[in-house]
Amino acid sequence: MADKAIDDLMLENRKFPPSDAFKRRALITDTGLYDDGNADYEGFWARQAADLLTWSKDWHTICEWNLPFSKWFVGGELNVAYNCLDRHVLAGRGDKVAFYWEGEPGDSRVITYAELLAEVSKFANALKSLGVRKGDRVNIYLPMIPEAAVAMLACARIGAAHSVVFGGFSSQSLSDRINDAEAKVLITADGGYRRGEVFALKPQADEALQSTPSIESVVVVRRGNNPVDMQAGRDHWYHDLMASASPDCPAEPMDSEQLLFLLYTSGTTGKPKGIMHTTGGYLTQVAFTHKYVFDLHPETDIYWCTADVGWVTGHSYIVYGPLANGATSVIYEGVPNYPANDRLWSIVEKYKVSIFYTAPTAIRTFMKWGGEEPAKHDLSSLRLLGSVGEPINPEAWMWYHEHIGRGNCPIVDTWWQTETGGIMISPLPGATTLKPGSATFALPGIGAEVVDDEGKHVSRGGGYLTLTHPWPSMLRGIWKDPDRYRDAYWSRFEGRYFAGDGCKLDDDGYLWLLGRVDDVMNVSGHRISTTEVESALVSHPSVAEAAVVGANDPTTGQAIIAYVILRSGLEVGEGDLRNHVAKEIGAIAKPKTIYFTPDLPKTRSGKIMRRLLRDVAEGRNLGDTTTLADANVVNELQKRASEAPSED
Ligand code: WT7
Repeated sequence: MADKAIDDLMLENRKFPPSDAFKRRALITDTGLYDDGNADYEGFWARQAADLLTWSKDWHTICEWNLPFSKWFVGGELNVAYNCLDRHVLAGRGDKVAFYWEGEPGDSRVITYAELLAEVSKFANALKSLGVRKGDRVNIYLPMIPEAAVAMLACARIGAAHSVVFGGFSSQSLSDRINDAEAKVLITADGGYRRGEVFALKPQADEALQSTPSIESVVVVRRGNNPVDMQAGRDHWYHDLMASASPDCPAEPMDSEQLLFLLYTSGTTGKPKGIMHTTGGYLTQVAFTHKYVFDLHPETDIYWCTADVGWVTGHSYIVYGPLANGATSVIYEGVPNYPANDRLWSIVEKYKVSIFYTAPTAIRTFMKWGGEEPAKHDLSSLRLLGSVGEPINPEAWMWYHEHIGRGNCPIVDTWWQTETGGIMISPLPGATTLKPGSATFALPGIGAEVVDDEGKHVSRGGGYLTLTHPWPSMLRGIWKDPDRYRDAYWSRFEGRYFAGDGCKLDDDGYLWLLGRVDDVMNVSGHRISTTEVESALVSHPSVAEAAVVGANDPTTGQAIIAYVILRSGLEVGEGDLRNHVAKEIGAIAKPKTIYFTPDLPKTRSGKIMRRLLRDVAEGRNLGDTTTLADANVVNELQKRASEAPSED
């Protein structure tokens, strides 16, 4: 037991095969694609690249693999913006809606493919007029407005790499990222809307710009109408540049390995890494996964991914995947609880959204708010749901299935990372029998394996998730730091990519993600995954969300400490909850202490910051809290921790 990589405690037996109604329309209903991918993964991806994208020059080599560096479709040329815009317009689909944009205050815009192409072409010319050339880096620091997608595509059109920094990040994070990338231009806005108020962006950008010598020009989109200082010679209003820009900007062919973007991932520790993604392989995999994982029917589907463009999910599944496939998408600017807790469901109803993709942290928040909120709206347009970002607890999955999907939408639980660029492990909704909480299987053309501490293959039970061969949208490295790239991902297990996640395999070969291995707890020699204990807690009918950490303990090594958010209006005692966990997964996993809390410390992308919870549990002073979405949450928790008596 104790020599296992990670113990396997939880058993989940519910199964949901695709319904006949779903299968009748589904793109994929059998295992043919898997057979293709297994037989020859390079050939498989080459067929997808040829089928889904338009190339201006053919590649001569599908994949060049010098571990850990890969190149895909070597010698091939294409333009990402051409693939996302021009070819749809040329095919007569210029009037098709690309984006329904919904502003938080209730304003809205409808943008067709032809309009988006014109806007992108003009802005590409504006960037050129500011001296941006192929190979340069451009920083983007914007709210969730259509100009974010326009800016990204304009860079892609002229071969400049973008580096998007989430609008919620501080000026310090922004200047660090600008300096690491040595960006020439920054694109920002005066401000954006959040929770009914304007938050200022340009003043934050101005602070960052005091220490960013590489920046020559700043472009400012007007959105918040808040007052801003414009520095003559450096700062330009977006609308002024656009007024004089020509809408004629031919999409130049780019090398398949041209840098498309950098995206910095901070994780929960360490200096941010500039993850590098390139052109041909990236677009192939995001187009493929967006089409088949979401069973996209571009003529009829209305697709909505609730992520921010500042995260990789926004890059791959708001901008590049959907546009490459000619989809119609919804983009929403604001928070889910403005003006009320049913905002997202009113948007689903308004635009008749058929595919909805969100994160477990959001789903657990919806659970906390209760089933009444979605029940206020007609959600019958929905036919497929997706989840990404964290393991989804089986009970959150069930709630999503019942209250949002009304029992008849498959849920695709998609595992991937900033580093993988696109979805890697996920059901194909017309072919895969779902199990709540499992991301099921590696996609066709992807090699995933669970291994133990020694790197030996595990065929049942817990271990570490590894990827066994290159994939088209894999990161090409860490910007300016090849050694760190090798160390971080390729040194733990020889010849394999180590994702940093725990994972287990059940008897049917399903993959169950168990969270980051840094979070695994060691209680009396048992290696217990935080995900499994959290799922056991969330399976209690009164619990909406739980976070679990291991805190130093003189007798057991670590003790399990749980922080629990209750569903609105419900209660449960600490003792009952501890017994519930014991019943669900065993006495060894019983939390020593449970704190009830209205909120949890999360990163701005919604991941629970267990490092901070460990600090609280062990009574330490808190380290860096700047990546927290809401810093007040920890103060409140510290107060509760110092007041509450410990169990046992
Ligand atoms: C980490 C990557 C991928 C876009 C958003 C996050 C966790 C992601 C799942 C899932 C279990 C998941 C992993 C992964 N994760 N999706 N479906 N089930 N865990 O991107 O910020 O790069 O984070 O998110 O721990 O390693 P990211």
